[in-house]
Amino acid sequence: MAQAPREQWGSRTGFVLAAVGSAVGLGNMWRFSYLASEHGGGAFLLLYIAMTALVGLPVMLAELTLGRGSGRSPIFALQHFGGRAWSLLGWLFVATGFLIFSYYSVIAGWTLRYAVETIFLGFSGDPGGRFEALATGGPAVAWHLGFVVLCAFVVMGGVRGGIERASVVLMPVLFALVVGIAIYAATLDGAAAGYARYLTFEIREILSLEVLREAAGQAFFSLSLGMGVMITYASYLSPRENLPQQSLVIAGADFGVAFLAGLVVFPLIFALGLSDKVGESTVGALFITLPETFATMGAAGRVVGSLFFVALAVAALTSAISMLEVVVASAIDGLGVSRRTAAIVAGAGIALLGIPSALSLGVLGLLDQVAGNLLLILGGLLVTVFVGWVMDDPVAEVERGAGGIRWFGLWRTLLRTVVPLVLAVVLVSSCGATLGAIQELAGG
Ligand code: PHE
Repeated sequence: MAQAPREQWGSRTGFVLAAVGSAVGLGNMWRFSYLASEHGGGAFLLLYIAMTALVGLPVMLAELTLGRGSGRSPIFALQHFGGRAWSLLGWLFVATGFLIFSYYSVIAGWTLRYAVETIFLGFSGDPGGRFEALATGGPAVAWHLGFVVLCAFVVMGGVRGGIERASVVLMPVLFALVVGIAIYAATLDGAAAGYARYLTFEIREILSLEVLREAAGQAFFSLSLGMGVMITYASYLSPRENLPQQSLVIAGADFGVAFLAGLVVFPLIFALGLSDKVGESTVGALFITLPETFATMGAAGRVVGSLFFVALAVAALTSAISMLEVVVASAIDGLGVSRRTAAIVAGAGIALLGIPSALSLGVLGLLDQVAGNLLLILGGLLVTVFVGWVMDDPVAEVERGAGGIRWFGLWRTLLRTVVPLVLAVVLVSSCGATLGAIQELAGG
């Protein structure tokens, strides 16, 4: 079969912004803040930094190496370097992408709706009731479907004309919004109390396996690791790129936005003393507490609140398109179908799969636990073992284009020892948590 030449990014900045766009998402703002407030603020932050640097960064470099080295989407990249058996891991990635997108898009749908309604109508006086009314049921399904259509539309535009173009415009807007809102948050009454909770910790909290597990899961989720996004995006890179440098930039930007999101959310929830409410957190807590706070701040609250939800929606969009791209690229490489067909069929499949999450918060939370924690960690562990122990010469592969930086030996050693060890511990602990979540859902 004659193959069309593979698509390529238009520029290095384009690639980096697209990868940062994938990494920076609901994970940074919504998931990070609710996990941080649930697990003791500073303790979570510290473990999250450690997990990003020690575990996330090496795995990011491993994924980028596989993608650029093979120039293929995950299933074929793994087959290229590891033969047929390892291509199964690529299938796991695609399945995980389907599952995560399906519920991610429901939350993104809430976000879009908040953004639009806040601009035109302001915040409602009863945020809890409002959230309940829009989180599940017909309207949630409709906004979820709308969001999937939006993503499919971008992905259909191609790597350069769709994904890159959207990221280059949207990411600077997102950064500006988040920085601006963080500055506003610093002026609030609750700022000092919020920062104190966010930036301090007790030793006891750091020593908890549960917090470690959540921090590692969050680092993976936030860096878009463990489901082949970085493999796919790097497959459109030229061989000359400096991968270690780019992984540092991507991880740095991702951490930066998560950190800023904390600087926004903590002062806001402390401004009205709502921190306890987020503490008994469900996935929806921020969608209730933040509007509640914004609603008390008059016109400024309405403007800043709308901008906050616009930023959230932008972040969600550039992340969701990367999940869709994993599925679409695999279909293009494997079945030889056109990008358009792949995007429509994959989008339709994901749209259907997301409906249960749009009808029940229990299903949504469970999928986040199973796919967002368990499957990502499993995928990350396997890809680590592959690059650390199985692949022929990953160091030669990563060295291409990498200029003066020389820590590849350390990278390989981490991939062989610390990273798989931490991920294995987290995986086992995650299995327990998932069983608990399933029982809870079955029981309630
Ligand atoms: N990194 C994205 C976020 O923080 C989510 C994501 C996970 C995207 C896995 C792609 C793959 O929201």
